[in-house]
Amino acid sequence: MSNHIFQRYDIRKDYSWNYQHAPDPVDCSVSEVPGRWQFLEKPIASPLGISAGPLLNGKWILYYSKLGFDILTYKTVRSIERECYRLPNLTPVRNNQLTGDEQEVPVSPEMKGSWAVSFGMPSQAPDVWRKDIEWTRNNLRSDQLLSVSVVGTVQPGWSLSDLAEDYARCAAWAVESGADCIETNFSCPNVVTQDGQLYQQCESASLVAQAVRQAIGTTPYVIKIGHQPDRAASAELLKSVAPFINGLAMTNSIAARVKDSSGQLMFDGQQRGICGDGIRSASIDQVRLFSQLIEEYKFNLKIVGVGGIHSASHVKEYLNAGAESVQLATAVMLNPEIGIQIRNGLTV
Ligand SMILES: Cc1cc2nc3c(=O)[nH]c(=O)nc-3n(C[C@H](O)[C@H](O)[C@H](O)COP(=O)(O)O)c2cc1C
Repeated sequence: MSNHIFQRYDIRKDYSWNYQHAPDPVDCSVSEVPGRWQFLEKPIASPLGISAGPLLNGKWILYYSKLGFDILTYKTVRSIERECYRLPNLTPVRNNQLTGDEQEVPVSPEMKGSWAVSFGMPSQAPDVWRKDIEWTRNNLRSDQLLSVSVVGTVQPGWSLSDLAEDYARCAAWAVESGADCIETNFSCPNVVTQDGQLYQQCESASLVAQAVRQAIGTTPYVIKIGHQPDRAASAELLKSVAPFINGLAMTNSIAARVKDSSGQLMFDGQQRGICGDGIRSASIDQVRLFSQLIEEYKFNLKIVGVGGIHSASHVKEYLNAGAESVQLATAVMLNPEIGIQIRNGLTV
């Protein structure tokens, strides 16, 4: 074990504070992961990545790039500046494996592995994140991959094609700045049609994916989706987006309402994404389902497994279920050394 003190995201402080207080990179020894790995057909040193969330800016990315991760996702950005929701942004909840049928989950006095995430996808202004992405790409090793997550921001009176153009604009800017891969967050409410999330609406998802593809040429492109256990709906989604994308990242979270210790609903009774340990088994089931469908329909698509990973055996479970690579969020925030530990576990 090293003697470094590993700084981590401070959940008692807000997004802006954490944005300003990114740790300096540390030098530690990181073991190789045996095997040949790819991310959307690009050769890569390991299948280990960090999903959109913990990496608020380039400094956070460089910090984790030295800690055993080869695929680094820049936290979701927008075409306009957007503030973060107020604290609490991360509320620990009871830690058991969720099925997605839960209406409510109770808070937990301690962090046991799962939490409700409530940031509202804040974003710096485009000129800030575009420069920062350029700086980040210039400072990462050439065999590490920078993925940038983008989301559209609906303005009053917008149609779906306006929203699609907004996604496409952000994606094009990210590619111009040096992104190796684009991820679009489709597990966000479709506020244009007011009825659920983009990944649950095949026609909308298809239209947005097509606009993004047109804007980014041949740059690798992944869509990030939420929980979808239904086989027919999953097949429908794949058919709608397959012509435009190279892969899917799943599962963003499982949505539920959060009950505080006095039994009151938090966040004005709105759902929040539950992330961490408790979504792992539902997410691995989903990876298995999508992987079977991809094979059945002969789509040329890869899966990025996300949700509840904090050990080498979790990584293996995702890879066995059909993921090409994996990404972590919660575990890297709780334990910055997790990448090094997982690599050690993958070498045995
Ligand atoms: C602090 C935090 C912020 C997040 N922000 C985003 C985001 O901006 N965009 C996104 O697509 N997902 C976001 N997520 C979801 C993660 O990318 C990931 O899908 C989820 O946390 C499940 O992985 P985990 O169980 O390893 O945490 C966030 C998660 C966390 C914990």
